[in-house]
Amino acid sequence: MREYKQTVAALVASAMEGLDAAAIESMLEVPPNAEMGDLSLPCFKLSKALRQSPQQIAERLASSLPQHPSIAETKAVSGYFNVFLDKRSFAADVLRAVERDGERFGASELGKGKTIVIDFSSPNIAKPFHVGHLRSTVIGNALYRIHRFLGFDCVGINHLGDWGTQFGKLITAYKLWGDERQVEEGEIEELMRLYVKFHDEAEARPELEDDARAWFVKLEQGDEESLRLWRWFKEISYKEFNRIYGLLGVTFDSDAGESFYNDKMGAVVDELKEKGLLEEDQGAYLVRLDEYNMAPALILKKDGGTLYHTRDIAAALYRKKTYDFDKAIYVTDYAQNLHFAQWFKVIELMGYDWAKRLVHVAFGRVSLEGVRFATRKGNVVLLEDLLRQSIDKTREIIDSKNPSLENKDEVALQVGVGAVIFNDLSNNRIKDISFSWKDVLNFEGESGPYVQYTYARARSVLRKAEAAGGGPAPSVAEIDAALLANAEAQQVLKELAAFPDKVMQAMEKLEPSVVSRHLIDIAQSFNRFYHECPILVDDPGLRAARLALVRSMCTVLRTGMSLIGMQSPERI
Ligand code: ARG
Repeated sequence: MREYKQTVAALVASAMEGLDAAAIESMLEVPPNAEMGDLSLPCFKLSKALRQSPQQIAERLASSLPQHPSIAETKAVSGYFNVFLDKRSFAADVLRAVERDGERFGASELGKGKTIVIDFSSPNIAKPFHVGHLRSTVIGNALYRIHRFLGFDCVGINHLGDWGTQFGKLITAYKLWGDERQVEEGEIEELMRLYVKFHDEAEARPELEDDARAWFVKLEQGDEESLRLWRWFKEISYKEFNRIYGLLGVTFDSDAGESFYNDKMGAVVDELKEKGLLEEDQGAYLVRLDEYNMAPALILKKDGGTLYHTRDIAAALYRKKTYDFDKAIYVTDYAQNLHFAQWFKVIELMGYDWAKRLVHVAFGRVSLEGVRFATRKGNVVLLEDLLRQSIDKTREIIDSKNPSLENKDEVALQVGVGAVIFNDLSNNRIKDISFSWKDVLNFEGESGPYVQYTYARARSVLRKAEAAGGGPAPSVAEIDAALLANAEAQQVLKELAAFPDKVMQAMEKLEPSVVSRHLIDIAQSFNRFYHECPILVDDPGLRAARLALVRSMCTVLRTGMSLIGMQSPERI
């Protein structure tokens, strides 16, 4: 659509004096239904400058716009100037563009030379990977892929929570009640059990807290035994995290977690002091933010220990120096809004103008009402369990619907995981979402399986056509694009044409759901086309034209799925 907007804007500017093509381009809208044309100019936006009523402007444009092969008709309706594209040339243009660019359709060099640092996932060691971390992982991964597609250099960082007083507690608990084999076998669950036990016991025996503090001090001082245990707890946690990342197909460029900044804290504290930002408060140190209506950012505890804020500030300084980012993005749930607002402000007060390049990408909560889990500890749902259940349930659906499918396990994994990913991206990220198997795995609803199934169905049509001896789907040069002038085909074409803009929007708003929503639109328009317009018909011309459309649809849907981190199985 971008090209058409440019074309129409240039024609409008040439038809009427005193108008700027770029400004017109930004005013052009894609109307909600086809009766109002393919592009529409709301002329009230010009009436002040031109001193005419919107309807007068629209009429003048309708009568004076120069002829153009891409434009079939124009109309002036209630102050809108509506442009109807020539259906044949529109079809040919869209298919040609998809054919030319293939899986790069919608990609660009926009971000060339710019680096985007994306801090996402970031679970805590020895604590479970919960649904909030899953959402961060899925959203962060999609943002990573979308930015890369638009030419940015991306650095994905897993800011693991691998430091803090909880390790003192864990070591204490392990020394008292732990068993090496049990930890190796039970993994995070066993570490959690020890951690919970510590808290239970410490209520009656407060001296345990002193032991824990002492162990953490040792750890901070580099004591061999504490370090060895800490490293081991990390390894145990990693095993589980890596299984989850493997299922999701997510990788990182760095997993410098909180501990990575241990030796960079002193410098931060000194700098804050030098800049006159640090204030003592009952032995602790903080940066006051009253002026900005925020609670102070805590920098040093009474015992000299550093805090979550301190680590984030140190990490940001390090990342700026190391990656010289254009933007640094942090993906967490909105419960951390204040945390990020506070330390972004501290960076600004330190005099760094790149504070404005720090972006907190917040997302809503996931509620798991009505979902039953095999393993459930307190309020925490073990995420691996959730993914495995999704895969198993998908496998059952496949077993009943398509028992003869080959590689059922692989497909169940792709669809089961895709379903969970899609659910996380199905709405604006800031919205709370609920998780119900009924919706997540609904092959007919607005779900991941629906998109994947549409793709597989379209691929199967292409395979059938090829098996019937027609060779691969014909290229646009070989078809009569006028045969795609019907409403159903045009709607699919419009959705395909909108794809590049949607990807851009997703990047600008840091909102991967723009892509996932668009995948639903493409799939729905395609399914309507599929039902109304038989593809493998006898008429070779019609068949060729429709096959060409099916093939382009597949290309775009597949690219879109990969941008949000979903796989696209050929058969389901
Ligand atoms: N580990 C934190 C948590 O689980 C998330 C870290 C997010 N990243 C950051 N740089 N603060 O809540």
